Amino acid sequence: MSNNKLEPYSWKDRPALIEHLFPVQKLSVESYKEQMAGQGKTLTALGSFWKGRKPLILNKACVLGCLLPTSNNPLKDLEVFELLMGMDEESLIRRGANASVETILETVPGLEVSKYFGIKTEDSTLPSHTPFSLKDHSRVVNGKSKLPIVKWKEDLPRGEYFRIQKLATKEASYTEKIRMADRPEEVGEVLFDGIWDKVNSHLGTHASSIPELVEEMGIARFGHRPKVADVFCGSGQIPFEAARLGCDVYASDLNPIACMLTWGAFHIVGAGEEERKKIEESQKALVEKVQREIDALDIESDGNGWKAKAFLYCVEVVCPETGWKVPLIPSFVISEPRTGIKNNVIAELIPNVLEKKYVIKIKQFVNEEELEKARNGTIDNGDLVHSPDGITEIRVRITSIRGDHTDLQGENQNKLRLWEKEDFVPRPEDIFQERLYCIQWMRKKENSKGDEYEFRTVTKEDLEREDKVISHVGQHLQEWQEKGFIPDMKIEPGDETTRLYTERGWTHWHHLFNARQLLINSISKSIINSYNALPFLQSLNWNSKISHWSPLDGGGGSVKQVFYNQAFNTFYNYGTRGSIYLVGLYYPSYFNFVIKSNYTIKNLNCTTDNLISNDIYITDPPYGDAVKYEEITEFFIAWLRKNPPEEFKDWTWDSRRSLAIKGSGEEFRQGMIASYTAMKNHMTNNGIQVLMFTHKSGSIWGDLANIVWASGLQVTSAWYVVTESDSALRQGSNVTGTILLVLRKRTGRLETFRDDLGWEIQSAVKKQVESLVGLDKEVRQQTSEGLYKDADIQMAGYAAALKVLTTYSVIDGKDMELESRAPKREGVKTFVDNLIDFAVQTAVQYLIPKTFEEADWRKFSAEEKYYLKMLEMEAQGEKLLDTFSNFAKAFRVSHFEDLLGHSKANSARLKTSAEFKGNLMTNNTEFGKSPLRALLYALWEIQKEIDIEHVLSHLMDNCPNFLEAVPRLKSMAKFIAMMREGLKPEKLYAIEASSARILREALENQRI
Ligand SMILES: C[S@@+](CC[C@H](N)C(=O)[O-])C[C@H]1O[C@@H](n2cnc3c(N)ncnc32)[C@H](O)[C@@H]1O
Repeated sequence: MSNNKLEPYSWKDRPALIEHLFPVQKLSVESYKEQMAGQGKTLTALGSFWKGRKPLILNKACVLGCLLPTSNNPLKDLEVFELLMGMDEESLIRRGANASVETILETVPGLEVSKYFGIKTEDSTLPSHTPFSLKDHSRVVNGKSKLPIVKWKEDLPRGEYFRIQKLATKEASYTEKIRMADRPEEVGEVLFDGIWDKVNSHLGTHASSIPELVEEMGIARFGHRPKVADVFCGSGQIPFEAARLGCDVYASDLNPIACMLTWGAFHIVGAGEEERKKIEESQKALVEKVQREIDALDIESDGNGWKAKAFLYCVEVVCPETGWKVPLIPSFVISEPRTGIKNNVIAELIPNVLEKKYVIKIKQFVNEEELEKARNGTIDNGDLVHSPDGITEIRVRITSIRGDHTDLQGENQNKLRLWEKEDFVPRPEDIFQERLYCIQWMRKKENSKGDEYEFRTVTKEDLEREDKVISHVGQHLQEWQEKGFIPDMKIEPGDETTRLYTERGWTHWHHLFNARQLLINSISKSIINSYNALPFLQSLNWNSKISHWSPLDGGGGSVKQVFYNQAFNTFYNYGTRGSIYLVGLYYPSYFNFVIKSNYTIKNLNCTTDNLISNDIYITDPPYGDAVKYEEITEFFIAWLRKNPPEEFKDWTWDSRRSLAIKGSGEEFRQGMIASYTAMKNHMTNNGIQVLMFTHKSGSIWGDLANIVWASGLQVTSAWYVVTESDSALRQGSNVTGTILLVLRKRTGRLETFRDDLGWEIQSAVKKQVESLVGLDKEVRQQTSEGLYKDADIQMAGYAAALKVLTTYSVIDGKDMELESRAPKREGVKTFVDNLIDFAVQTAVQYLIPKTFEEADWRKFSAEEKYYLKMLEMEAQGEKLLDTFSNFAKAFRVSHFEDLLGHSKANSARLKTSAEFKGNLMTNNTEFGKSPLRALLYALWEIQKEIDIEHVLSHLMDNCPNFLEAVPRLKSMAKFIAMMREGLKPEKLYAIEASSARILREALENQRI
C-alpha cells in the first residue's frame, strides 16, 4: 500500500455500499437496543418530550453506507462496514458481550487452564484442562463455601482472549449478544483502536480514526470533507451523528423547538470545555435564583423543617343531583411504593353534611384491604360517583355536568366558560373548580444520608400559603406577560389542541399551568439563555396541569411528563412539583462528544429553494399524521416567542402550521415533492440521499415512487429496519419500522415502453434477489446467522422494481416527472400508480415459497399466495404485524386482517383452520371461494374427528374444479404440514400439522 492518500474524485462514480448491501437485521437489533435505552439515550436528556428520534446507530450506518464504496468482494465490504460500526465479533466482546471466566471454564472444552488463567495458590488443585465447574471445587473458608478465584492472565495476548471469547459466545445470537453489550457510543473511540490496518488495506486509505476516514472518503468522492444535510432535522439525531463522524453538516427545520434541540445536541452534548463551564454556570444561576425567590415568599415550607416536594390538585364540581361539591379523583390511591418502605397512602372522603362538601383526609400506612378499596375514586367510566350518606350511590354523567350538546350548526359544544387571557385560576362561577387535596413533604434524614417523605392532609396554613401564591401571581401576571416571562399566546384550535378548549375551557397556553407552576416558570424565564433554555423546556414538560400523578413511580408517587405520549391529555387530578425538582432537571449528566467539524443550523422551510449545496442528504420527513410536531410544540413555543435567547432570536417563533408538511394526502405529496426537488437542485451531481420513512399508510410505495420521480431523483436501493418499539409512538401497532430509500439524481433522459418494462423489472428483481440470497448464504456459512430475512429480500425486490422504473424519464411517450407532479384525485389511479402497482406485483411474483413450482404458484389467488407466504414467514419466526401488513400490500390483499388470528404489533399470526371454523366459506370473497379455504375447512373437520371419507366428499363439494385442483391441494397440505410441524405453541400447531398430513395422505390414496 502506498503512503499517498486517495486522489480527489477517485471514487467519484463508485456505487456506495448502501446501494448494494446493508446488514438490516443486525441494524434492527442495534436500533431497537438504542430506542429501548429511553432516558439513557445520548441526546434524550436534552428533551425527552421529543419522540420519534431516529437511532444514532442507524444514522451512522447511513452516513458510512453512503461514503463507503463497493468492491468485487462483498464479504470483505461487509466486514469493513461492521468493523467501523462496532458490530463485528471482537467489537461485541469489547462492548461487553462476553462470557465470564466461570462460564468459559464450564463450556469451552480442551483449554489448558494455566495458559490462559491465573489461579491463587490455594486453588491450585483445579483440573489442568477444561471443561469443569468451579462449583465442584469450592472450599470452605470460615464456615462458608467459596468458589476458587480464577482470573484472566494479565499478559495474555488480546488475540487469544478474543479467540476464546468467540468460542464461548458462538452459540449466542446477535440479539442475545447485543442484550449484554453496551451501545458503541458508551464505549467510545477505543472501540475502533484495532481496526485500521484491516480497514485501510481494504479501502486503500490512511486513516487512524473515523473522522479521518470520513474526510478521506469525502475527498475521494466529492473532492472535500463530505457535506451532509438534513432539512427535517427534528431533534438533530441525524446531523449530530454525521458531525460526530467528522462530516460538515447542514441542519434545518421549520420548527424552532426542533432547531433548539439540534442546537443543544451540538452546543451542549457536543460542547468543548469552555462551553461546558458556561452551561453549568447558567444552569446553576437559574436554579439558585428560583429557589431564593421561592424561599423569600415562604410558600413551600411547613415551618417545621419540611419542604414541599409535590402538591396534588383535582377538579371539583357541584353534583347537580345533590348540590354537593365533589372532588374529581379517579383513584384515591396516592402512593404505592414498589420498593423501599411500603408506605401505602390513600385519600379518604369524609362527608361534611352541613356544608355539603367533602373533607379530604390523607391516610398513610394503610393495609392492603384499604388500598384495594381506595382504587375506585369519584370517576368511573365517565360518571361522577359519590355517596354523601355512605349508603346511596349517586351517579351523574360528566358530560351532563359539563353541559355537552350539539349546536344548531351541528357542532359539539359544552357549557364550560372559555378562559380569558388574565385568567389563571377558575372563577367562582366556573363549572370546574380546582382544589389542592394533598401535599408530599420531604426533609433531610436526621442521622443518615438521604431524605424522608410523607404525604399529608391539607391544613389551614397550607391553604393560606396557596392564597399567597395566587395573589402574588395575580398581582404580577400582566407585567410578566408583557415582559414575556409568561406566555399570552392563544391556543390555535387543531387536531390535538381543540380538546383543551372543549375539555377545560383553556384558550391560552398559560392556562395549562397553575399559580405555583407559573411562578416558578416566570422566575426561570427571567434569566433564560441558550444554555439553560432546553432544561427550561424540560421543566415545562415535567410540571404542568397536564402532568399526571402516578402513585407507582419514583419510589411511591411522582409527577409525570406531559409528553409521555404525543397528545394533550387532560386529567381530573394532577401533580405540581415543588421548586426542588429543578435541581435534577438543570444538572443532568449529559453525554459529551466534542464536535469538531463545521455545522450550520437554520430555522427554515425546506420546501423553498433556500438551501446550500450538499453531497449527502439523509432525511426523515414527517410521518403522515403520526406525530403532530407543528401543534404539540406550541406548548413550548408560547413560552419563548416574545423574547427568545439571543442565539435563537432570528428564528421564526411560530410552528408555522400551514407550512409544515403533514397528513398523507395531496398536500403532503406536493410538500414532499417541493422539498425533495429543492434538495436535488442543491445536491452534488454524484451526491446521494437516504430518505427514511416510518410508514403506516398502505399507499406508501406509490407515494414514495411518485415523490422520487417528480423530484428528478431515482431509487437505487431500499432497506427495511425495525426502529421503534410498540409504545414509542401513539400509533402503536402501526409504526414499527423504517424504510430507507437510497436515491440519486436522475441524469440523462431515458425512454422506454411499458411493454418492455415487464421483463426488465423481472430480471432486475431476479438479479437483486439472487445477489442478496447469495450473500446471505455466504454469511450464514461463516457465522451461522444470516444477513436478511424474507421481508428484507422482498423489500429489495421492490427496490429493484422501483429502480428500473425511476431510471426512465419517458414511458410510453409520457414525461414521467410531469405525470408524477400532476395533482392526484382521491381514489383515482394515475398512469404512475398503475406502473408502480405493476412493478410491485412483478417483484412479488418472484418471491415464491421454496416448495412450490412456479407454474402451480401462478394459479393461486392473491389471498392464497398471501396465506401460504405468511405460513412460511411464521415458520421462520416472523411475528411483526408490520410484516403481515407489508406483504398484504404487496399481494394486494385488502382484508388481510380477516386471515389473522392475532393482530398485535409484535405477535401477529395467521388464523389456523380451527380458528377459521366455517368462517368466510359462504361469502363471495376470493378467499372464500378458493381451494385453500376448502382445504382449511377439511383440516378443521379432521380435527373434529369427522370420518375422512366425509371430509373428502365435503372437500370435493367445497373446492371449485376439484379435479383440476387436486395437485395444488396436495402441495398445499404438504406445505402446511411442513410449516406447522414443530412450530410453537405446539398446542396450536401440532394438530394442524398432523391433520394436514392426514389429508395429504388421503388425497394421495383416494381414487378419483
Ligand atoms: C420526523 S421529524 C424528524 C425527526 C428527526 N429525524 C429526529 O430524529 O428527531 C420531521 C421534522 O420535519 C419538520 N418539518 C415539517 N415540515 C417542514 C417543512 N416544510 N420544512 C422543514 N421542516 C419541516 C418537522 O418540524 C419535524 O421536526
